Amino acid sequence: MLGCNLIEEKKEKGWRGESNGKASEWRAWDWKAPMGVIFGRRKWVVNVPVGKVLFPIACLVVIILLPVILIYKLAIVLFKKKPEPLVGIDIGSSGIKLIEFGERGGKRFLKKFDFEKLEPLVVESGAIMDFERFDAALGRLVARNGLQGRRVALGISGHSVISKHITLPEMTPEELAASMRWEAEQYIPFDLNFVYVDWQRVESDNLPADCMCVLLTAAKKDVVDDYREALKRAGMRPVVVDIEGYALVNAFAAMYEAPKDKTVVLADVGAGMTNLAVLARGHYAFSRDIALGTSSFSEKGGESRLPGTQVVVREIGRSLEFCESVSSGNQIDIIYLFGGGAKEAAFVSEMKNRFTKSQILIGDSLAGLRDVDGAFGEFKVDELVPEYAVAVGLALRKG
Ligand SMILES: Nc1ncnc2c1ncn2[C@@H]1O[C@H](COP(=O)(O)OP(=O)(O)OP(=O)(O)O)[C@@H](O)[C@H]1O
Ligand SMILES: [Mg+2]
Repeated sequence: MLGCNLIEEKKEKGWRGESNGKASEWRAWDWKAPMGVIFGRRKWVVNVPVGKVLFPIACLVVIILLPVILIYKLAIVLFKKKPEPLVGIDIGSSGIKLIEFGERGGKRFLKKFDFEKLEPLVVESGAIMDFERFDAALGRLVARNGLQGRRVALGISGHSVISKHITLPEMTPEELAASMRWEAEQYIPFDLNFVYVDWQRVESDNLPADCMCVLLTAAKKDVVDDYREALKRAGMRPVVVDIEGYALVNAFAAMYEAPKDKTVVLADVGAGMTNLAVLARGHYAFSRDIALGTSSFSEKGGESRLPGTQVVVREIGRSLEFCESVSSGNQIDIIYLFGGGAKEAAFVSEMKNRFTKSQILIGDSLAGLRDVDGAFGEFKVDELVPEYAVAVGLALRKG
């Protein structure tokens, strides 16, 4: 599953390269040598005749302890409580969307599905602007759905987020963690003290021999922390902070069969932001956020919505031209429209006029559940719901 977790504790663990250095201080096991233990910087050496004393003790320990450990491990596996699924919370400028899935007989069903409207200017360009009103709206959503104490995944997007594919020589995860600070300095145009960073090895076409592709993600700490703190104030436990573009890709992969032989664009057109994610032959290849959405369609009050709609379509076109140029001129076969923009008929028709060589389809965030008996439980979801894709992708995260 594609994704990142922009939470500090993980980053700290990830790039503490010193631990690798310490590991190399352990010396190779030598039966004849006195036993030595290196703890931190000090070294204690105990002289014990290995063959006469230690060997029988070791045998005894193995005979007695091994079955006990095995039984203990087996009990953990058998009786371990399955981790509670995460609640996906998508915070957009038009409102907060909520999804939780349950599982019955190996099939997914909708357990929670809700939306709390936000007043204009409470959330803008992917950041909270009016904390008081935001807390009040989130509080209503939490109370209505009994979310106190729940573990949640939330998404961020916009100017405060950077995601980049980088090609590196093959290396172990430990070597990668040790080298990522240097790599991040090359690619992230922010002071690293003010960003959260995560990375993931991903599949990629046309890689040189002995190389690997790593997806590097960074987000500004102040934006992430504002969201995390707001969720904590509302009584929830934010455990995953992902990028909306990745959540979109994960939702699509779960709900549709991603064609392996085509270039597919997922375009989530929200009220204030458009998230684009490109899948080339089944692999995530590129994402870009455009700070325009449906609110730009009607910015000039009573005037025609067409000029505003065309501006958004033109910007999407520019980003996709760039994508074609970096993906060796691969033509875009299908564009799936998600977000509330997919419900705007004039926008959909403009997209069809602009991208005549591509198939334009309206995405359904819950497409994969349509044929599953009882998948929607108490919720009536008759129409397509293109606007819930990010919330779906977040709810699918494990954490
Ligand atoms: N049934 C509908 N018909 C037409 N347009 C709709 C419909 N439902 C939603 N929209 C449009 O979609 C917008 C909301 O889209 P969406 O829920 O994807 O935005 P958001 O996620 O809150 O915003 P963002 O992610 O950009 O901050 C509305 O402001 C409206 O313009
Ligand atoms: Mg949105």
